[in-house]
Amino acid sequence: MSFKSKIKTIEWKDNCSKMIDQTLLPYEFKTVDIKTSEEMYKAIKNMIIRGAPAIGIAGAHGVALASMELSKNITNRDEFLKELQKKSDYIKSSRPTAVNLMWAVNKQMDLAKKTQGSVYDIVNAVIENGILLENEDIKINKTMGDFGAEVVPKGATILTHCNAGALATVGYGTALGVIRSAYAKDPTIKVFADETRPRQQGARLTTWELTQDGIPTTLITDGMCSYFMSKGMIDLVIVGADRIAANGDTANKIGTFTVAIAAKYHNIPFYIAAPLSTIDTSINSGNEIPIEERSHEEVTHINGDWICAKDVNIINPGFDVTPNELITGIITEKGILRPNFKDSIKNLKI
Ligand code: MRU
Repeated sequence: MSFKSKIKTIEWKDNCSKMIDQTLLPYEFKTVDIKTSEEMYKAIKNMIIRGAPAIGIAGAHGVALASMELSKNITNRDEFLKELQKKSDYIKSSRPTAVNLMWAVNKQMDLAKKTQGSVYDIVNAVIENGILLENEDIKINKTMGDFGAEVVPKGATILTHCNAGALATVGYGTALGVIRSAYAKDPTIKVFADETRPRQQGARLTTWELTQDGIPTTLITDGMCSYFMSKGMIDLVIVGADRIAANGDTANKIGTFTVAIAAKYHNIPFYIAAPLSTIDTSINSGNEIPIEERSHEEVTHINGDWICAKDVNIINPGFDVTPNELITGIITEKGILRPNFKDSIKNLKI
């Protein structure tokens, strides 16, 4: 099955969360049914589902699954909410950087506490809200796409890093959503996709979804971006985000910061595309964003094969933080934020 079938990356169906297993792409297209909160924790941690907005929805579904589990044995409302909070905290601990996960789980817990009535009323409320958040995500991405398409010049070649596409969201995408909207208006635009070591989301996922939409896509390795910028072959950069601090500093997949520096040097606009749920106004700057340290095997191995000396030291941060002064604009569902980001984010009143 191809992605063109318009299947959602994650969908609540038949009392479970159905998601595309992204660890198998592009070799195999398979969906898995996540039936328990424990399975959801593992699906997020092991990156069966990944990408900030998508793991937010996974978190929301996880709380719905947890509420169903608890309602089998607990009828007392206070006890139920206490146990649901514990399971929600557990789900939130699956990955630390993308704030959409915390945002969605907290939204579910707030609703659970506010819902009047029995435990069953709470279960129904969080299930319904999980479906609502899921459907809203696609609408938000399309709105963001419309705003973002305005900054794409005619015939532009756009560089993107990692996968901020339909696979990183419920559908359509953030950075790739902007590219989809721009392409719908101007089919002469082109994309350069960074491979994105170590997990290769650019190679495995971005090229897979863009080529299925017929959008001309060239795959490059991470170290090549300055070369192509210096040759005048890149007109702008658009990437997604995992967490944006109150001053606009933005955490995204490791390597994004390097792309932003290269863009600044070559005078190329550098845009972030992200929903408001990615903005964390509780932190003042990017220094406060927790950066996930991932398995060393992601660096030492490619497709199960060792690629380096066996006793070499490894460090593998999953994300880096691009300072706000390197960012031209942040494309959101409320429009494009411009520097000074501290003020433009404050004016959003989120
Ligand atoms: O580790 P991942 O694959 O979850 O990282 C994803 C990214 O960094 C994306 O670029 C980011 O979440 C934006 S997704 C719309």
